[in-house]
Amino acid sequence: MAGAFNLLAPWRFVRFARTVQISQLPRLKLHTTSAMSATVGQFNLAKTQLGTLKEDPGNQVKLQIYALFKQATQGPCNTPKPGMLDFVNKVKWDAWKSLGSISAEEARKQYVDLIGSLVAAEAPAEVAAQPAGSSVTYNTLLVSTQDGVTTIQLNRPEKKNAITVEMYNEQIKALEQAGKDDSVLTVITGSGDYFCSGNDLSNFTKIPDGGMEQMAKDAGELLRSYVKAYIDFPKPLIAVINGPAVGVSVTLLGLFDIVYATERATFHTPFSQLGQSPEGCSSYTFPKMMGVAKASEMLLFNKKLSAHQACVQGLVTEVFPDSSFNNEVWTRIKAYAKLPRNSLALSKQLIRQTEKERLYDVNNQEVERLVERWLSDECMQAIMSFFQTKAKL
Ligand code: COA
Repeated sequence: MAGAFNLLAPWRFVRFARTVQISQLPRLKLHTTSAMSATVGQFNLAKTQLGTLKEDPGNQVKLQIYALFKQATQGPCNTPKPGMLDFVNKVKWDAWKSLGSISAEEARKQYVDLIGSLVAAEAPAEVAAQPAGSSVTYNTLLVSTQDGVTTIQLNRPEKKNAITVEMYNEQIKALEQAGKDDSVLTVITGSGDYFCSGNDLSNFTKIPDGGMEQMAKDAGELLRSYVKAYIDFPKPLIAVINGPAVGVSVTLLGLFDIVYATERATFHTPFSQLGQSPEGCSSYTFPKMMGVAKASEMLLFNKKLSAHQACVQGLVTEVFPDSSFNNEVWTRIKAYAKLPRNSLALSKQLIRQTEKERLYDVNNQEVERLVERWLSDECMQAIMSFFQTKAKL
Protein backbone atom coordinates (compact mmCIF):
# COMPACT_ATOMS: atom_id res chain seq x y z
CA MET A 1 0.00 0.00 0.00
CA ALA A 2 2.74 2.44 1.02
CA GLY A 3 4.53 1.71 -2.26
CA ALA A 4 1.44 2.49 -4.24
CA PHE A 5 1.14 5.90 -2.58
CA ASN A 6 4.57 6.78 -3.93
CA LEU A 7 2.95 6.99 -7.33
CA LEU A 8 1.61 10.34 -6.15
CA ALA A 9 5.03 11.93 -6.03
CA PRO A 10 4.94 13.73 -9.39
CA TRP A 11 2.18 16.18 -8.48
CA ARG A 12 2.98 19.61 -9.70
CA PHE A 13 2.70 21.35 -6.34
CA VAL A 14 4.40 18.73 -4.26
CA ARG A 15 7.66 19.11 -6.14
CA PHE A 16 10.31 19.98 -3.63
CA ALA A 17 12.15 22.66 -5.52
CA ARG A 18 15.38 23.72 -3.90
CA THR A 19 15.83 26.88 -5.95
CA VAL A 20 14.36 29.17 -3.29
CA GLN A 21 15.57 28.93 0.30
CA ILE A 22 12.87 29.10 2.98
CA SER A 23 14.86 31.84 4.70
CA GLN A 24 14.58 34.01 1.56
CA LEU A 25 10.80 34.04 1.77
CA PRO A 26 8.79 36.12 4.19
CA ARG A 27 7.94 33.77 7.08
CA LEU A 28 4.39 32.53 6.84
CA LYS A 29 2.46 33.99 9.70
CA LEU A 30 2.14 30.72 11.54
CA HIS A 31 -0.80 29.72 13.69
CA THR A 32 -3.37 31.07 11.25
CA THR A 33 -5.83 28.57 12.75
CA SER A 34 -6.41 31.16 15.39
CA ALA A 35 -6.94 33.90 12.86
CA MET A 36 -10.28 34.59 11.20
CA SER A 37 -9.27 33.41 7.76
CA ALA A 38 -6.37 33.18 5.33
CA THR A 39 -6.05 35.83 2.65
CA VAL A 40 -5.37 35.00 -0.99
CA GLY A 41 -1.89 36.47 -0.41
CA GLN A 42 -1.21 34.05 2.45
CA PHE A 43 -2.52 31.21 0.29
CA ASN A 44 -0.16 32.12 -2.56
CA LEU A 45 2.74 32.47 -0.17
CA ALA A 46 1.96 29.04 1.30
CA LYS A 47 2.01 27.58 -2.24
CA THR A 48 5.48 29.02 -2.76
CA GLN A 49 6.71 27.81 0.61
CA LEU A 50 5.46 24.32 -0.15
CA GLY A 51 7.95 24.18 -3.00
CA THR A 52 10.80 24.97 -0.63
CA LEU A 53 10.31 22.22 1.94
CA LYS A 54 13.38 20.11 2.40
CA GLU A 55 11.60 17.05 3.78
CA ASP A 56 9.01 15.05 1.88
CA PRO A 57 5.95 15.27 4.19
CA GLY A 58 4.71 11.82 3.15
CA ASN A 59 1.93 10.80 0.82
CA GLN A 60 -0.86 11.11 3.35
CA VAL A 61 -0.07 14.78 3.96
CA LYS A 62 0.49 15.38 0.25
CA LEU A 63 -2.99 13.99 -0.42
CA GLN A 64 -4.39 16.37 2.13
CA ILE A 65 -2.54 19.31 0.56
CA TYR A 66 -3.81 18.29 -2.86
CA ALA A 67 -7.41 18.04 -1.65
CA LEU A 68 -7.34 21.40 0.15
CA PHE A 69 -5.78 23.06 -2.89
CA LYS A 70 -8.51 21.70 -5.19
CA GLN A 71 -11.26 22.70 -2.75
CA ALA A 72 -9.80 26.20 -2.33
CA THR A 73 -9.43 26.79 -6.07
CA GLN A 74 -12.24 24.73 -7.65
CA GLY A 75 -14.76 24.17 -4.84
CA PRO A 76 -16.28 20.81 -3.84
CA CYS A 77 -15.31 17.74 -5.86
CA ASN A 78 -17.79 17.32 -8.70
CA THR A 79 -15.80 15.28 -11.19
CA PRO A 80 -16.72 11.64 -11.93
CA LYS A 81 -15.14 9.03 -9.63
CA PRO A 82 -12.13 7.41 -11.38
CA GLY A 83 -12.29 3.65 -11.94
CA MET A 84 -10.89 1.19 -9.37
CA LEU A 85 -7.83 0.50 -11.53
CA ASP A 86 -6.94 4.16 -11.87
CA PHE A 87 -5.43 3.98 -8.40
CA VAL A 88 -3.59 7.30 -8.23
CA ASN A 89 -6.49 9.40 -9.45
CA LYS A 90 -8.90 7.43 -7.26
CA VAL A 91 -7.02 8.22 -4.01
CA LYS A 92 -6.67 11.86 -5.05
CA TRP A 93 -10.38 12.01 -5.87
CA ASP A 94 -11.24 10.34 -2.51
CA ALA A 95 -9.16 12.91 -0.63
CA TRP A 96 -10.82 15.83 -2.43
CA LYS A 97 -14.30 14.29 -2.05
CA SER A 98 -13.70 13.75 1.69
CA LEU A 99 -13.70 17.54 2.16
CA GLY A 100 -17.41 17.54 1.34
CA SER A 101 -18.84 21.02 0.96
CA ILE A 102 -16.46 23.04 3.13
CA SER A 103 -16.10 26.56 1.74
CA ALA A 104 -13.17 27.73 -0.40
CA GLU A 105 -12.27 30.12 2.40
CA GLU A 106 -12.11 27.33 5.00
CA ALA A 107 -10.05 25.18 2.61
CA ARG A 108 -7.66 28.09 2.02
CA LYS A 109 -7.26 28.55 5.76
CA GLN A 110 -6.63 24.83 6.38
CA TYR A 111 -4.13 24.79 3.48
CA VAL A 112 -2.21 27.75 4.93
CA ASP A 113 -2.30 26.18 8.42
CA LEU A 114 -1.08 22.83 7.18
CA ILE A 115 1.82 24.26 5.20
CA GLY A 116 2.57 26.61 8.08
CA SER A 117 2.97 23.62 10.36
CA LEU A 118 5.25 21.84 7.84
CA VAL A 119 7.41 24.93 7.48
CA ALA A 120 7.50 25.31 11.26
CA ALA A 121 8.58 21.71 11.70
CA GLU A 122 11.65 22.46 9.56
CA ALA A 123 12.26 25.87 11.08
CA PRO A 124 14.46 26.69 14.06
CA ALA A 125 12.82 26.04 17.44
CA GLU A 126 11.88 29.67 18.06
CA VAL A 127 9.33 29.68 15.23
CA ALA A 128 7.99 26.16 15.66
CA ALA A 129 4.18 25.96 15.58
CA GLN A 130 3.74 24.67 19.10
CA PRO A 131 2.55 26.37 22.25
CA ALA A 132 5.10 28.62 23.90
CA GLY A 133 7.61 26.69 25.95
CA SER A 134 6.69 23.40 24.34
CA SER A 135 8.88 21.12 22.30
CA VAL A 136 6.09 18.63 21.67
CA THR A 137 5.29 17.64 18.10
CA TYR A 138 2.10 15.90 17.08
CA ASN A 139 1.25 13.43 14.31
CA THR A 140 -2.51 13.61 14.53
CA LEU A 141 -3.08 17.22 15.57
CA LEU A 142 -2.21 20.72 14.40
CA VAL A 143 -1.49 22.78 17.50
CA SER A 144 -0.81 26.49 17.38
CA THR A 145 -0.95 29.58 19.58
CA GLN A 146 -1.67 33.12 18.44
CA ASP A 147 -3.23 36.23 19.93
CA GLY A 148 -3.97 34.51 23.24
CA VAL A 149 -5.68 31.49 21.68
CA THR A 150 -4.25 27.96 21.58
CA THR A 151 -5.94 25.94 18.86
CA ILE A 152 -5.92 22.14 18.84
CA GLN A 153 -7.10 20.90 15.45
CA LEU A 154 -7.85 17.20 14.96
CA ASN A 155 -6.01 16.31 11.79
CA ARG A 156 -7.10 13.02 10.20
CA PRO A 157 -9.62 14.43 7.71
CA GLU A 158 -9.44 11.33 5.48
CA LYS A 159 -10.84 9.31 8.42
CA LYS A 160 -13.26 12.05 9.48
CA ASN A 161 -10.91 12.76 12.43
CA ALA A 162 -11.68 9.40 14.07
CA ILE A 163 -9.68 9.20 17.30
CA THR A 164 -6.89 6.61 17.34
CA VAL A 165 -4.98 5.63 20.48
CA GLU A 166 -2.21 7.98 19.34
CA MET A 167 -4.68 10.83 18.91
CA TYR A 168 -6.17 10.28 22.39
CA ASN A 169 -2.69 10.48 23.87
CA GLU A 170 -1.77 13.52 21.80
CA GLN A 171 -4.92 15.35 22.83
CA ILE A 172 -4.18 14.67 26.49
CA LYS A 173 -0.67 16.05 25.96
CA ALA A 174 -1.88 19.07 23.99
CA LEU A 175 -4.45 19.94 26.68
CA GLU A 176 -1.79 19.63 29.36
CA GLN A 177 0.46 22.02 27.40
CA ALA A 178 -2.37 24.44 26.63
CA GLY A 179 -3.36 24.51 30.30
CA LYS A 180 0.16 25.68 31.15
CA ASP A 181 0.96 28.03 28.26
CA ASP A 182 0.26 31.76 28.42
CA SER A 183 -2.80 31.71 26.17
CA VAL A 184 -6.17 32.95 27.44
CA LEU A 185 -8.45 30.47 25.67
CA THR A 186 -8.18 27.04 24.10
CA VAL A 187 -10.13 26.00 21.03
CA ILE A 188 -10.70 22.48 19.72
CA THR A 189 -11.79 22.05 16.11
CA GLY A 190 -11.53 19.55 13.23
CA SER A 191 -9.88 19.46 9.79
CA GLY A 192 -11.85 18.73 6.63
CA ASP A 193 -15.62 18.35 6.50
CA TYR A 194 -16.09 16.55 9.86
CA PHE A 195 -15.51 17.73 13.39
CA CYS A 196 -14.87 14.14 14.50
CA SER A 197 -16.36 10.68 13.92
CA GLY A 198 -15.62 9.52 17.47
CA ASN A 199 -13.55 6.59 18.60
CA ASP A 200 -11.64 4.97 15.71
CA LEU A 201 -13.36 1.61 15.61
CA SER A 202 -10.17 -0.05 14.40
CA ASN A 203 -8.82 0.54 17.95
CA PHE A 204 -10.85 -2.58 18.80
CA THR A 205 -9.08 -4.70 16.22
CA LYS A 206 -5.59 -4.22 17.68
CA ILE A 207 -5.47 -6.97 20.28
CA PRO A 208 -2.42 -6.86 22.60
CA ASP A 209 -0.62 -9.93 24.00
CA GLY A 210 -2.91 -10.00 27.04
CA GLY A 211 -5.92 -10.60 24.76
CA MET A 212 -9.30 -8.87 24.70
CA GLU A 213 -9.40 -8.31 28.47
CA GLN A 214 -6.13 -6.41 28.31
CA MET A 215 -7.34 -4.41 25.30
CA ALA A 216 -10.51 -3.38 27.16
CA LYS A 217 -8.57 -2.55 30.33
CA ASP A 218 -6.01 -0.41 28.45
CA ALA A 219 -8.76 1.35 26.49
CA GLY A 220 -10.61 2.04 29.74
CA GLU A 221 -7.54 3.62 31.36
CA LEU A 222 -6.92 5.73 28.28
CA LEU A 223 -10.53 6.93 28.17
CA ARG A 224 -10.47 7.73 31.90
CA SER A 225 -7.34 9.92 31.49
CA TYR A 226 -8.70 11.51 28.32
CA VAL A 227 -11.98 12.59 29.89
CA LYS A 228 -10.16 13.68 33.07
CA ALA A 229 -7.99 16.00 30.97
CA TYR A 230 -11.20 17.81 29.95
CA ILE A 231 -12.66 17.83 33.47
CA ASP A 232 -9.44 19.32 34.83
CA PHE A 233 -8.78 21.82 32.04
CA PRO A 234 -8.15 25.10 33.87
CA LYS A 235 -9.01 27.73 31.23
CA PRO A 236 -12.06 28.46 29.08
CA LEU A 237 -12.39 25.70 26.49
CA ILE A 238 -14.25 26.40 23.25
CA ALA A 239 -15.43 23.81 20.71
CA VAL A 240 -15.58 25.07 17.12
CA ILE A 241 -17.74 22.38 15.52
CA ASN A 242 -16.90 22.64 11.82
CA GLY A 243 -19.03 19.65 10.70
CA PRO A 244 -20.74 16.48 11.93
CA ALA A 245 -19.71 15.12 15.33
CA VAL A 246 -20.10 11.50 16.49
CA GLY A 247 -19.62 9.55 19.73
CA VAL A 248 -17.12 10.79 22.28
CA SER A 249 -16.66 14.07 20.39
CA VAL A 250 -20.31 14.79 21.22
CA THR A 251 -20.46 13.41 24.76
CA LEU A 252 -17.50 15.55 25.84
CA LEU A 253 -19.27 18.76 24.85
CA GLY A 254 -20.83 19.06 28.30
CA LEU A 255 -17.30 19.70 29.59
CA PHE A 256 -16.67 22.64 27.23
CA ASP A 257 -17.47 26.19 28.25
CA ILE A 258 -18.71 27.32 24.84
CA VAL A 259 -19.76 25.29 21.79
CA TYR A 260 -20.07 27.10 18.43
CA ALA A 261 -21.39 25.05 15.51
CA THR A 262 -21.82 25.50 11.79
CA GLU A 263 -25.39 24.82 10.67
CA ARG A 264 -23.96 21.84 8.72
CA ALA A 265 -23.00 20.08 11.97
CA THR A 266 -24.94 17.13 13.37
CA PHE A 267 -24.60 15.45 16.77
CA HIS A 268 -24.87 11.69 16.99
CA THR A 269 -24.14 9.23 19.82
CA PRO A 270 -24.92 5.77 18.38
CA PHE A 271 -23.92 3.84 21.51
CA SER A 272 -26.68 1.26 21.79
CA GLN A 273 -26.35 0.61 18.05
CA LEU A 274 -22.73 -0.33 18.80
CA GLY A 275 -23.55 -2.36 21.92
CA GLN A 276 -21.81 0.29 24.03
CA SER A 277 -22.78 2.87 26.68
CA PRO A 278 -22.24 6.63 27.15
CA GLU A 279 -18.94 8.23 28.15
CA GLY A 280 -17.46 11.72 28.48
CA CYS A 281 -19.63 12.28 31.60
CA SER A 282 -22.64 12.58 29.28
CA SER A 283 -24.73 10.24 31.44
CA TYR A 284 -24.65 13.12 33.93
CA THR A 285 -24.18 16.29 31.82
CA PHE A 286 -26.76 15.52 29.11
CA PRO A 287 -29.79 14.93 31.41
CA LYS A 288 -28.70 18.00 33.38
CA MET A 289 -28.52 20.13 30.23
CA MET A 290 -31.50 18.89 28.29
CA GLY A 291 -33.67 16.90 30.71
CA VAL A 292 -33.81 13.12 31.01
CA ALA A 293 -36.32 12.58 28.21
CA LYS A 294 -34.33 14.42 25.54
CA ALA A 295 -31.00 13.01 26.79
CA SER A 296 -32.43 9.49 26.57
CA GLU A 297 -33.44 10.00 22.94
CA MET A 298 -29.79 10.69 22.17
CA LEU A 299 -27.94 8.38 24.55
CA LEU A 300 -30.28 5.36 24.46
CA PHE A 301 -32.02 5.63 21.11
CA ASN A 302 -29.25 7.15 18.95
CA LYS A 303 -31.23 10.20 17.87
CA LYS A 304 -29.07 12.40 15.67
CA LEU A 305 -29.58 16.13 16.34
CA SER A 306 -29.20 18.92 13.82
CA ALA A 307 -27.12 21.91 14.93
CA HIS A 308 -30.29 23.91 15.58
CA GLN A 309 -31.83 21.09 17.66
CA ALA A 310 -28.59 20.75 19.65
CA CYS A 311 -28.72 24.49 20.32
CA VAL A 312 -32.32 24.28 21.54
CA GLN A 313 -31.27 21.39 23.86
CA GLY A 314 -28.46 23.48 25.36
CA LEU A 315 -25.64 21.33 23.97
CA VAL A 316 -24.56 24.08 21.55
CA THR A 317 -24.15 27.75 22.47
CA GLU A 318 -24.81 29.23 19.03
CA VAL A 319 -25.21 28.11 15.42
CA PHE A 320 -23.78 30.06 12.46
CA PRO A 321 -24.41 29.87 8.70
CA ASP A 322 -21.74 27.70 7.09
CA SER A 323 -20.70 30.49 4.71
CA SER A 324 -19.79 32.90 7.53
CA PHE A 325 -18.98 30.35 10.25
CA ASN A 326 -15.23 30.94 10.36
CA ASN A 327 -15.35 34.71 10.21
CA GLU A 328 -18.06 35.11 12.81
CA VAL A 329 -16.69 32.54 15.24
CA TRP A 330 -13.07 33.71 15.07
CA THR A 331 -14.06 37.37 15.40
CA ARG A 332 -15.86 36.40 18.59
CA ILE A 333 -13.00 34.25 19.91
CA LYS A 334 -10.37 36.89 19.19
CA ALA A 335 -12.41 39.45 21.11
CA TYR A 336 -12.85 37.07 24.08
CA ALA A 337 -9.11 36.40 24.11
CA LYS A 338 -8.52 40.08 24.92
CA LEU A 339 -10.31 39.70 28.28
CA PRO A 340 -8.11 39.43 31.39
CA ARG A 341 -6.58 35.95 31.45
CA ASN A 342 -6.60 35.24 35.17
CA SER A 343 -10.10 36.54 35.69
CA LEU A 344 -11.39 34.19 32.97
CA ALA A 345 -9.51 31.16 34.30
CA LEU A 346 -10.53 31.73 37.91
CA SER A 347 -14.16 32.34 36.94
CA LYS A 348 -14.23 29.13 34.93
CA GLN A 349 -12.77 27.21 37.85
CA LEU A 350 -15.43 28.67 40.17
CA ILE A 351 -18.22 27.60 37.83
CA ARG A 352 -16.83 24.07 37.52
CA GLN A 353 -15.33 23.29 40.91
CA THR A 354 -18.55 22.29 42.67
CA GLU A 355 -19.03 19.59 40.04
CA LYS A 356 -15.49 18.23 39.84
CA GLU A 357 -15.73 15.35 42.32
CA ARG A 358 -19.05 14.37 40.83
CA LEU A 359 -17.58 14.35 37.32
CA TYR A 360 -14.61 12.19 38.39
CA ASP A 361 -17.06 9.75 39.88
CA VAL A 362 -19.27 9.70 36.76
CA ASN A 363 -16.19 9.25 34.57
CA ASN A 364 -15.06 6.24 36.65
CA GLN A 365 -18.48 4.62 36.50
CA GLU A 366 -18.86 5.17 32.76
CA VAL A 367 -15.41 3.69 32.12
CA GLU A 368 -16.17 0.62 34.26
CA ARG A 369 -19.38 -0.01 32.35
CA LEU A 370 -17.68 0.47 28.99
CA VAL A 371 -14.85 -1.95 29.80
CA GLU A 372 -17.56 -4.59 30.35
CA ARG A 373 -19.42 -3.54 27.20
CA TRP A 374 -16.30 -3.75 25.00
CA LEU A 375 -16.02 -7.43 25.94
CA SER A 376 -19.69 -8.15 25.22
CA ASP A 377 -20.98 -10.09 22.23
CA GLU A 378 -23.26 -7.18 21.36
CA CYS A 379 -20.31 -4.84 20.97
CA MET A 380 -18.10 -7.33 19.07
CA GLN A 381 -20.92 -8.03 16.62
CA ALA A 382 -21.48 -4.32 16.00
CA ILE A 383 -17.79 -3.59 15.36
CA MET A 384 -17.50 -6.61 13.04
CA SER A 385 -20.55 -5.49 11.16
CA PHE A 386 -19.04 -1.97 10.66
CA PHE A 387 -15.90 -3.45 9.09
CA GLN A 388 -17.85 -6.07 7.09
CA THR A 389 -20.06 -3.36 5.58
CA LYS A 390 -16.93 -1.41 4.64
CA ALA A 391 -15.36 -4.51 3.08
CA LYS A 392 -18.42 -5.03 0.88
CA LEU A 393 -18.35 -1.49 -0.53
N1 COA B 1 -13.60 4.50 13.03
C1 COA B 1 -12.87 3.97 12.04
N2 COA B 1 -12.89 4.42 10.77
C2 COA B 1 -13.67 5.49 10.52
C3 COA B 1 -14.46 6.09 11.51
C4 COA B 1 -14.40 5.56 12.82
N3 COA B 1 -15.10 6.08 13.82
N4 COA B 1 -15.13 7.12 10.96
C5 COA B 1 -14.79 7.18 9.67
N5 COA B 1 -13.91 6.18 9.40
C6 COA B 1 -13.26 5.89 8.13
C7 COA B 1 -14.15 5.11 7.19
O1 COA B 1 -14.10 3.74 7.48
C8 COA B 1 -13.54 5.46 5.87
O2 COA B 1 -12.33 4.72 5.75
P1 COA B 1 -11.85 4.18 4.28
O3 COA B 1 -11.63 5.41 3.45
O4 COA B 1 -10.59 3.42 4.59
O5 COA B 1 -12.98 3.32 3.80
C9 COA B 1 -13.12 6.93 6.04
O6 COA B 1 -13.02 7.13 7.45
C10 COA B 1 -14.14 7.89 5.49
O7 COA B 1 -15.40 7.59 6.05
P2 COA B 1 -16.69 7.13 5.17
O8 COA B 1 -17.47 6.13 5.98
O9 COA B 1 -16.27 6.73 3.81
O10 COA B 1 -17.45 8.55 5.09
P3 COA B 1 -19.03 8.79 5.11
O11 COA B 1 -19.18 10.25 4.92
O12 COA B 1 -19.73 7.86 4.19
O13 COA B 1 -19.47 8.39 6.60
C11 COA B 1 -19.39 8.34 9.00
C12 COA B 1 -18.90 9.04 7.71
C13 COA B 1 -18.67 9.01 10.18
C14 COA B 1 -20.90 8.52 9.15
C15 COA B 1 -19.07 6.81 8.94
O14 COA B 1 -17.69 6.65 8.60
C16 COA B 1 -19.31 6.12 10.25
O15 COA B 1 -20.43 5.75 10.54
N6 COA B 1 -18.23 5.92 11.03
C17 COA B 1 -18.33 5.27 12.33
C18 COA B 1 -18.77 6.29 13.37
C19 COA B 1 -18.87 5.63 14.72
O16 COA B 1 -19.62 4.70 14.91
N7 COA B 1 -18.07 6.14 15.67
C20 COA B 1 -18.00 5.60 17.00
C21 COA B 1 -19.07 6.19 17.83
S1 COA B 1 -19.08 5.48 19.43
